[in-house]
Amino acid sequence: MSIPTSSNTLKAGLGIVGFGTVGQGVWKHLAATKKNMENRLGVKIELIGVCVRNPDRQREVRIPRTAIHTDPCKLVDDPRVNIVCELMGGTTLAREVTLRALRLGKVVVSANKALVCEHGAEIFKTVSKCGGQYFFEASVAGGIPIIKSLREGLVANRFSEIAGIINGTCNYLLTRMEKEGLSYETVLKDARRLGYVEADESLDLDGVDAYHKAVILAFLAHGKWVPRKNTLVEGIRAVTLEDIQRALDFGYRIKHVAVIRRDFAKGHMTLGVYPALIPLDKVLARVDGVYNGISLTGDVVGTTTLVGRGAGQDATASAVIGDIVDAIRTLKGAAFKFLTRTDLDFYTALGQTMRMATPDEIQSQFYLRFSLRDESGVSAEVYRILAEEKISVARVIQYEHAGTRRGTHTLSTYPVSEASMERALRKLRKLRTVLETPLVLRILSPEN
Ligand code: NDP
Ligand code: HSE
Repeated sequence: MSIPTSSNTLKAGLGIVGFGTVGQGVWKHLAATKKNMENRLGVKIELIGVCVRNPDRQREVRIPRTAIHTDPCKLVDDPRVNIVCELMGGTTLAREVTLRALRLGKVVVSANKALVCEHGAEIFKTVSKCGGQYFFEASVAGGIPIIKSLREGLVANRFSEIAGIINGTCNYLLTRMEKEGLSYETVLKDARRLGYVEADESLDLDGVDAYHKAVILAFLAHGKWVPRKNTLVEGIRAVTLEDIQRALDFGYRIKHVAVIRRDFAKGHMTLGVYPALIPLDKVLARVDGVYNGISLTGDVVGTTTLVGRGAGQDATASAVIGDIVDAIRTLKGAAFKFLTRTDLDFYTALGQTMRMATPDEIQSQFYLRFSLRDESGVSAEVYRILAEEKISVARVIQYEHAGTRRGTHTLSTYPVSEASMERALRKLRKLRTVLETPLVLRILSPEN
C-alpha cells in the first residue's frame, strides 16, 4: 500500500488500536507537532480512528466520539487507514490485528514486546511476503532508539555482550527502595499511577517483560529467537531492603538486568534476566529510577552505552512517533527497507552458527546471602561445600543479630560455572544450620 494522493496532497491515515497510556501519549504529542511534521514530510497526517475496549471511559486526550471504535478489525480494514498503530498489548487479538493489517499491505507500528517475542518470526515472515512494513522501536527500552541502533547505526558489529537495564518498573522500584528506604508495595503503587507497569504486572515483577525485550535484542544481534527454556528468568520479588544495603556494603548496587553473551570461539550464547550486583563505578549502576541503560560491546565499535527513560507515556510516545515517521517515509517509498527477504535470510544464517550454552559452560560471579544458626563449626560446613564445588570465595561479611542465635553471612565468589553453584546450593539447602533458603544473585561487571 502507498500513500493515496488527492488534490495533490499526500495523506497518512492513522488507525490507533489501543488508546491507553501509550496510545493517548502518541496522539497528544503528534497532534501538538502535526503541522511541523506535515510540512517536513510533505504529507497530511490524519487520525482516522482509535480502538478501545470501553468507548465511554473518560480519557485524558479528547478526540471526537465518532472516531472511537471497539472493533479493531473494522478500523484496520478501513481503506483510509494505511498506518496501523498496535498499542493495545496482549498476544492474541494483537497478533490477529497485526497480521491482518500486514496482509492488507499496511504498515504496522507497535510497542508490544510480548507479541514480537512470541510471534516475531511469523510477523517478520508476513512482512517479507506481503510487502508491508513493521516498526517496533517502542517495544524495547522506551525512548532509547536501541532497535534502530542495532539494525542501522551498529550494523558493522558482532556483539560479544549486550547487558542492560531494560525494565523501567523494576529499576524504579529498586531505586526508590534504596534511596528512600520505602517498601516494595509503596513504590509499586506510584509506578502504577505513573503508567510504567504492564496491565499484567507480574510481567514486570517476575522478569518476563525483560525476557521479552532481551529476546528481541538477541534476535536483532544474533538472529536467534531464544526459547524461554534456554534462559534464566528471575524477577525482583525476592530482593529485600536488607539485600540492597548489604550489596552497597560490598560496593555494588542491585539492578534488574538482561544479559546476552555470545562466545564466538566456542559458538554458543546465553541469555538471562535477573537481579544483579553491579560495581558502583559502572555507568549502569548509576542508571536510576525509570531510566533504562544498555551497554553493547561490539567487535568494531567497542563498548557503547545508551541511557534514557525506559517506560511511561512520553518516552514511549517518542519512540512510536519516530516509527510513524518511518512508516510515512516507507509509504512514500523513501525509507530504508527492513525485514526484507534478504534481511531474514541473513538472520537465519546468523542464528544457525550458534547454540545455547549449557550450565557447565556459563561462568558467573555470585553473591550469596544466608542465615546460619549460631553454633561452632557451622561456617566451616558451608565453606567445605563451596570448596567441594571448587567455588572460590572473594569476600565475606558477617552480621550478628543481637539477642538472637543466628547470623547473616554475605559473600562474593570468583567466576564459577552455573552448574557448580547449583550443586552447592542444593547441598546448602539441606544443612540443618542454614536457616532460610539462601539468596543467590549474580555479579555483573560491564565494560563501562
Ligand atoms: P493500557 O492498558 O494503558 O492501554 C491499552 C489500550 O488498549 C486501552 O485503550 C484499551 O482499551 C485497549 N484495549 C485493550 N484490549 C482491547 C480489546 N480487546 N479491544 C479493543 N481495545 C483494547 O496499556 P499501555 O498503553 O501501557 O500499553 C500498550 C502497549 O504498549 C503494550 O503492549 C505495552 O506492553 C506497551 N508498552 C507500554 C509502555 C508503558 O510505559 N506503558 C512502554 C512501552 C511499551 P480501554 O482503554 O477501553 O481499556
Ligand atoms: N512495563 C514496562 C517497563 C514498560 O516497566 O519497562 C516499558 O516497556
